[in-house]
Amino acid sequence: MSVTKTLFDTMPDGREVYLYTIENNNGISAGIITRGATLQSFCCPDREGVTGDIIMGFDTVAGHMASGTYTGNVIGQYANRICGGKFTVGGKEYQVTQNEKGKTCLHGGGEFNSALWKAIIIDDDAVEFSYFSADGNEGFPGNIDVTVTYILTDRNELEIRYKAVPDRETVINMTNHAYFNLGTTANGDVLDHELQLFCDYYTPTNADSIPTGELRSVEGTAFDFRKPKKIGRDIGADDEQLIMCRGYDHNFCVNGEKGKLRLVARVKDEKSGRKLEVMSDLPGVQLYTGNFIDGTETGKNGIVLEKHYGFCLETQYYPDTPNQPDFPQCTFKKGEAFESVTIFKV
Ligand code: BGC
Repeated sequence: MSVTKTLFDTMPDGREVYLYTIENNNGISAGIITRGATLQSFCCPDREGVTGDIIMGFDTVAGHMASGTYTGNVIGQYANRICGGKFTVGGKEYQVTQNEKGKTCLHGGGEFNSALWKAIIIDDDAVEFSYFSADGNEGFPGNIDVTVTYILTDRNELEIRYKAVPDRETVINMTNHAYFNLGTTANGDVLDHELQLFCDYYTPTNADSIPTGELRSVEGTAFDFRKPKKIGRDIGADDEQLIMCRGYDHNFCVNGEKGKLRLVARVKDEKSGRKLEVMSDLPGVQLYTGNFIDGTETGKNGIVLEKHYGFCLETQYYPDTPNQPDFPQCTFKKGEAFESVTIFKV
C-alpha cells in the first residue's frame, strides 16, 4: 500500500493542483486531484493482465474546467437538479443558482466540483480531502465543513466516505460523478457493457429532467436492469423517457433500506473482462450514459470523447428532493452530519 503526492497542474490563478495516487498490493491504483476532489484515474488489469484506466477524463485542469461533463468530480452542495433552483428549508424560501437553461439548479451550481480542496494523507491507503462551503455560496444556506475520504483496499474496493456538517438547517446531497469505461475510452463506447441494477423502481422526469414525483416500476420497461443486460440493448427503445433524455439519465430507487450499505449495481465488460461493483447506503443512483457527450471534447491521451463513451452511477438522494415531500428527505439540522459511503469495487 502506498500514497504518493505529485504536482498535477495549476489553476488559472496559479494555485497548485496536486494528484494523490493510492496504490494497493495488487497493483491497482486510484488517482485523485485536489480540484473538485476529482477521481482522475482508476487503473486495473483486464483479463490478460494489461492495466487500463477505466475513468473517462482529462489530462489537465483546463480540460476539466472547459468540460460540461463533471467527470470524476465530487458534487455538492446538492447533486443533480432542484426545480427552479427554489426550495424552502427552516421556514425560509431560498433561490439558488439556476445554471441550467436559466431554470434549474444542476449539481449545486458547480460549487464543490470547481473548488480547490485541501488534502492530507491519513494512512498508507487513504487520503482525506476537505472543503469549507460558506453560507450563501450559490445561494445555499449554511456554513458547511465537508470532508471526502478516498480509501483503496486490498479487496480492490475504492471507498468514498462523505461527511458534511452544516451550522444551520439545510439540504445536502453529495455524489461522485465519475464516468466509467471498463474497456477504456481507447476502445469506444460502453453500450456493450452488461449492467445489473438492484432497483425495482425509477423516477421518471419531465422535459427539464425534474422528477414528476412518480415512482415507476421498471417491470416490462427499458429501465429493467434487474437481470444483467447490455446498456445498449434497449437504449433506443420507443420510450418517451429515453427519447427525451437521449438515453438513460434517470434516478433509480435502490432496493433495501437507506442508511444500510448494500449492492447498487454490477457491471461487466465481456471484451476486456473487467468488472465493477457499486455499493452505497444512499436511496438513489443516477444512471447517466453520457448522452450529451458529442465529440467536441478531447480527453486523456488525446482521445476524442464521443456519445456513450462512459457511464455514470451517481449514488444520491433523488433529484429535487427538497420539493418532493414523498421522497426520502435530505434536510440536515445544525450540527447534524450528512454521512455516506459509496464503494466502487473492481
Ligand atoms: C445529469 C445529466 C447531466 C450530467 C452532466 C448528470 O448527473 O443527470 O443530465 O448531463 O450529469 O452534467
